[in-house]
Amino acid sequence: MAKRFSIALVGLLFLCCSWTVMVNAEGEYLKYKDPKQPINARIRDLMKRMTLAEKIGQMVQADRSVVSREIMRNYSLGSVLSGGGSEPLPHATPQDWINMVNDFQEGAISSRLGIPMLYGIDAVHGHNNVYKATIFPHNVGLGATSIAFTVLV
Ligand SMILES: *[C@@H]1O[C@H](CO)[C@@H](O)[C@H](O)[C@H]1NC(C)=O
Repeated sequence: MAKRFSIALVGLLFLCCSWTVMVNAEGEYLKYKDPKQPINARIRDLMKRMTLAEKIGQMVQADRSVVSREIMRNYSLGSVLSGGGSEPLPHATPQDWINMVNDFQEGAISSRLGIPMLYGIDAVHGHNNVYKATIFPHNVGLGATSIAFTVLV
């Protein structure tokens, strides 16, 4: 009995949480956030809600060094890039990287329309910008392939 009750409670909480994700502060239903709607209907709904500034923001990919949580929220930027060597701080650990991306993402999600951002990173050899990360010697493989190709041709 208690188990059935708790399953029902979890289901109810899930429904409430899903519903609050699909309504704005005024209680208005947001079709674009409803995963049960067809994708075309969601896109159409979102596009008609967006201002010109938000559309421009969504087309911008700014480097990490010039972005903050507040900028993500205020300008609805679509994407953040860590360009080559653009690390959150010197000797940044994996946790520092995770915290940085989560911080930007929370800013993006708290923007007026709550559109999540894309994150890009310019790295090689695995992730060569992470302090003490494993560096994969892929250039050795590329070099060997190139030599083999030259010998064959
Ligand atoms: C973000 O918007 C708030 C509220 O309008 C404003 O006070 C703040 O200065 C803005 N910050 C940036 C970085 O644009």
